[in-house]
Amino acid sequence: MIKAENIVKTYNGGAVEVLKGVSLDIKEGEKVVILGASGSGKSTLLSVLSGLERMDGGKVFYDDKDLSSMTEKQLTEFRRNTVGFIFQQYYLLPHLNVENNVKMGADLIGNKDFREIIKAVGLESKLKNKPAELSGGEQQRVCIARALAKNPKVLFLDEPTGALDEKTGREVLDYIIKSQGERGFTMVMVTHNLNIAETADTVIKMNSGVITEVYHNATPKTAFEIGW
Ligand SMILES: Nc1ncnc2c1ncn2[C@@H]1O[C@H](COP(=O)(O)OP(=O)(O)OP(=O)(O)O)[C@@H](O)[C@H]1O
Ligand SMILES: [Mg+2]
Repeated sequence: MIKAENIVKTYNGGAVEVLKGVSLDIKEGEKVVILGASGSGKSTLLSVLSGLERMDGGKVFYDDKDLSSMTEKQLTEFRRNTVGFIFQQYYLLPHLNVENNVKMGADLIGNKDFREIIKAVGLESKLKNKPAELSGGEQQRVCIARALAKNPKVLFLDEPTGALDEKTGREVLDYIIKSQGERGFTMVMVTHNLNIAETADTVIKMNSGVITEVYHNATPKTAFEIGW
């Protein structure tokens, strides 16, 4: 479903080459984990794959759609209809309560089920709370609810449990994996945590802007079976 061919991404007018020819293939419904040291280009790769940022060379295809040939308008439309994001920094709207933060995601596609999703992430009792009145784990669950409320075909997650303690991190990861199992979306998750790679179908290792290894897990583990 996603095919990247030789992606190059530079910053500072070409002075810094962050992605140095990255090619990959991701199947529909696949759970992919991207591992790599800090600064290896993982977040940059996610932002290019998801159409948030443009690449300087190479191509990214979603089936037969080529992101690199889209106009800004087409790219915005593509992001709205196809992808969801969960970032390490929560990016909730501080002046909106839980209900309205999630509704914002749901409104993008006219989804009326957003209260069900809030319930499913266990935040029914916090509907009227604003982000500052929530714990880190609760805020991350609001982000997950907001991303899922869009019914994305592809969910991108950048260190979704990075800011969470072990117990909350496992619960959040478990919820994400279960949602993936039920809804069948394609999932691309960046993490530093080697253990989390055991939950993936496919693991992609990066170093200094290139892919160094790709392997598959025959039996991906659950969030409660891995070390932390
Ligand atoms: N907007 C930018 N302008 C200039 N350099 C950037 C920009 N964004 C990222 N970089 C550089 O690109 C490199 C890769 O950054 P990236 O954020 O993709 O790494 P990462 O693998 O996600 O790291 P981490 O695990 O710490 O999040 C870093 O050296 C970073 O300084
Ligand atoms: Mg990063």
